[in-house]
Amino acid sequence: MKRKTRRPETAAVHGAADLEKKNAPVATPIYQTSTFEVTDNDEQVRVTETDRYYTRWGNPTITVAEQTVAELEGMEAARTFASGMGAITTTIMALLKTGDHIVAQRDVYGGVAKFLSQWLPRLGIETTFVDTTDYEQHERAIRANTRLLYVESPTNPVLRVVDFRRITALAKKHGLISMLDGTFGTPINQHPADYGIDLVMHSGTKYLSGHADLTCGVVSGSRELITQINEARTTLGNCMDPHAAWMLIRGLKTLAVRVARQNENAMRVAEFLGRHEKVRRVHYPFLKSHAQFGLAREQMTGGGGMVTFEVEGTGLDARRVSEAMRLFTLATSLGGVESLVSIPVLTSHAMISAELREKMGVTEQMVRLSVGIENGDDLIADLEHALEAVGTRQTVSVG
Ligand SMILES: Cc1ncc(COP(=O)(O)O)c(C=O)c1O
Repeated sequence: MKRKTRRPETAAVHGAADLEKKNAPVATPIYQTSTFEVTDNDEQVRVTETDRYYTRWGNPTITVAEQTVAELEGMEAARTFASGMGAITTTIMALLKTGDHIVAQRDVYGGVAKFLSQWLPRLGIETTFVDTTDYEQHERAIRANTRLLYVESPTNPVLRVVDFRRITALAKKHGLISMLDGTFGTPINQHPADYGIDLVMHSGTKYLSGHADLTCGVVSGSRELITQINEARTTLGNCMDPHAAWMLIRGLKTLAVRVARQNENAMRVAEFLGRHEKVRRVHYPFLKSHAQFGLAREQMTGGGGMVTFEVEGTGLDARRVSEAMRLFTLATSLGGVESLVSIPVLTSHAMISAELREKMGVTEQMVRLSVGIENGDDLIADLEHALEAVGTRQTVSVG
């Protein structure tokens, strides 16, 4: 350790930053700095390509988060962003230019649908939306100027499962980049890289961080594609903060155990709802009644923590059920340790037209659950109580 010769004012500013490091820390340190000192200007020029130049370019804590996700995905590299939407918008702007065309499945997160249909046309980039699981329609929509095949699986909120093999076959045949929003699938329940998906994106706000306390996004892929995306991130300034990266690293450490528990709880919840007389329909990839059950079992190692159901009643009944819950918190978002409930037509899909919602199969009677890691019996008891609200005239007491 250096001899302490600095006065308190100096020490308060510089802290322990230049104390010699004796032993490496077990937890990754947070490099909460916007810039990095260099010895001379030649070094300054050299470090621009590293994570020790300026934090908008990169930062050692952020690098640890990115390398962890890349490794989880089985991809060469990854980049983090300030949000999931930041990851999607920056990636698409990095890879496409005016005159290019995208084929996207109809069931995409509402914010993505808005970006593709309302924002990209301003830049002269058009998108054709196709039926999510009709791959002939995907192929028919491909044009000479198509560059990107954009998919999401499982989908929000109907939990359709997209066939990665068919998507990558199409992308290969037509020379397109395939990009998957794998937020609902997590890197634990599915491994898109094994099928040849080029880019996998996550809203890290959800399962990756896992505690409803962080907003971030991550994109993984080949070093070549990530280098292009990195260039756009640096220019657009859509980077993550080092502290948020540290929280993501912390969250990632428990991802596998959280997801295993969420899979188990969600399966029980889905089976319970499937038997309930006040439930018209349950959407869960690992239920036999799911339209892509076979594909889901082949492509996924767990059904995930999301369960969507439709009440046997009206949109008002769905709202009543969501408000009557005691354990499931009424809040948008998903993937955290705590169970949440939301009404898709009022939250994730509020920003898209009723007509498009109908095509996606998103109904007013739909209730979306993000199942957490609580005791499964307690969650089922909460649902049992809340479902009593269906068909009643008044909201069930939440007292
Ligand atoms: C499937 C999916 N993709 C992307 C996003 C956007 O992520 P973020 O809110 O981190 O920008 C969300 C947000 O809910 C989502 O559910």
